[in-house]
Amino acid sequence: MQSIGIDAMAIAVPEGYLELRDLAEARGVPPAKYVDGLGVVRMAVAAPHEDPVALAADAVRRVLDLGEIDPSTIGLCIVGTETAVDHSKPIAAYLHRLAGLPDRCRVYEAKHACFGGTAGLMTAVDWIASGSARGRKALVVCSDIARYGVKSAGEPTQGAGAVAMIISTNPRLVALEPGVTGSFARDVDDFWRPLYSKDAVVDGKHSVQCYLDALIGAYEAYVEAAREAGIDPDAVVRRCYHVPYGKMARKAHRALLAHRGHTEDEADARFADDVGSSLHFSAEIGNVYTGSLYLALASMLEAEARVLEGERIGLFSYGSGCCAEMFAGRVQQGAAAIVEKLALGAPLASRRALTIPEYEAIRAADAEIDRRPPSEPPVASVAARRVAFTGVEAERRLYHG
Ligand code: CAA
Repeated sequence: MQSIGIDAMAIAVPEGYLELRDLAEARGVPPAKYVDGLGVVRMAVAAPHEDPVALAADAVRRVLDLGEIDPSTIGLCIVGTETAVDHSKPIAAYLHRLAGLPDRCRVYEAKHACFGGTAGLMTAVDWIASGSARGRKALVVCSDIARYGVKSAGEPTQGAGAVAMIISTNPRLVALEPGVTGSFARDVDDFWRPLYSKDAVVDGKHSVQCYLDALIGAYEAYVEAAREAGIDPDAVVRRCYHVPYGKMARKAHRALLAHRGHTEDEADARFADDVGSSLHFSAEIGNVYTGSLYLALASMLEAEARVLEGERIGLFSYGSGCCAEMFAGRVQQGAAAIVEKLALGAPLASRRALTIPEYEAIRAADAEIDRRPPSEPPVASVAARRVAFTGVEAERRLYHG
């Protein structure tokens, strides 16, 4: 039987980031609350020219280039996002030009809070498994700017970034298990973003409980699906979770292991081995909403693909509102060499620390853009190699690059 899964991946991040110790100091909060209490270290801050289209395009160009993928082989492009730039035109339509995708390509956007990327991934896998792909590959992109109110409780759990993935037969990185997934859905008001607002509204403590309830619901559904397929649901050597902030992954691991009869101490003792390597990137970037689970997977592969070759990894995706899914994949033999070529962590090397006044000026500029779309480029200089949002002319969004 042909295998289907993630053949290549790449990430993109804004050029600026904030040290969360600096933010804690500015907000009069003990830094230990952010670093130890929430498990966050730095958060990426997107400048106005680094909108979700620009971030997505950067990630897609990297995955096509470093993954040595011919764009003409792509037949489906789905962008998962909860920070779309338009109520109608999808980010995928902008990517079609910016990434040089072929005319014979289905392009669209998927929305369900942080679950949109997983919805795209599942559709891509099923599209290939059904035969509709006819040998073509799918491009699944997750791109978001996680934004809460300045000085709100959610402020230290912001971030921004994109993850692009090529889905194909005989994948070089991770083979997934088509049809063997566990879904869970419920109508809850834990986190949402009204049409009139760029900042999310969140019932923080309730959102944590909704996440944990959905985790157990998806796990139970996954156990049933895996057993029907003759797969041991717990035969995984690592787990990647949706990571709104590092501590949430620890809470998730505790809850899952408690559900399986383990104590909190046992879960904590296993956490570094089971989950730890998936958190390196998110500690640098923060929450990237739809891309969060896949950023965790990229982080884990970057850190230890060689030891994971041939092993199964458990994956858990959560989108507020809510919809969740648990599934698993096997890291392919030879994945470590591909991971090296893809230079997954390289975009983190060329960033700049922002001061608190710079960060607050970016947030103020964002609010102004909402009131009055700029007809001039929102930045004085745009780095030549990057795709950048440069303003609105005759109601049309313009991109450099
Ligand atoms: N030293 C060490 N730890 C400290 C501390 C100190 N000085 N002060 C507080 N802490 C600890 C607290 O004990 C607490 O730990 P536990 O959670 O283990 O109990 C932790 O720091 C956080 O403290 P609070 O609970 O007081 O934090 P808060 O009320 O300021 O808000 C939050 C935390 C609710 C997560 C808030 O940041 C928030 O609303 N974030 C956005 C929503 C979110 O990320 N929800 C996650 C689930 S929903 C989801 O996953 C979808 C998505 O992507 C948004």
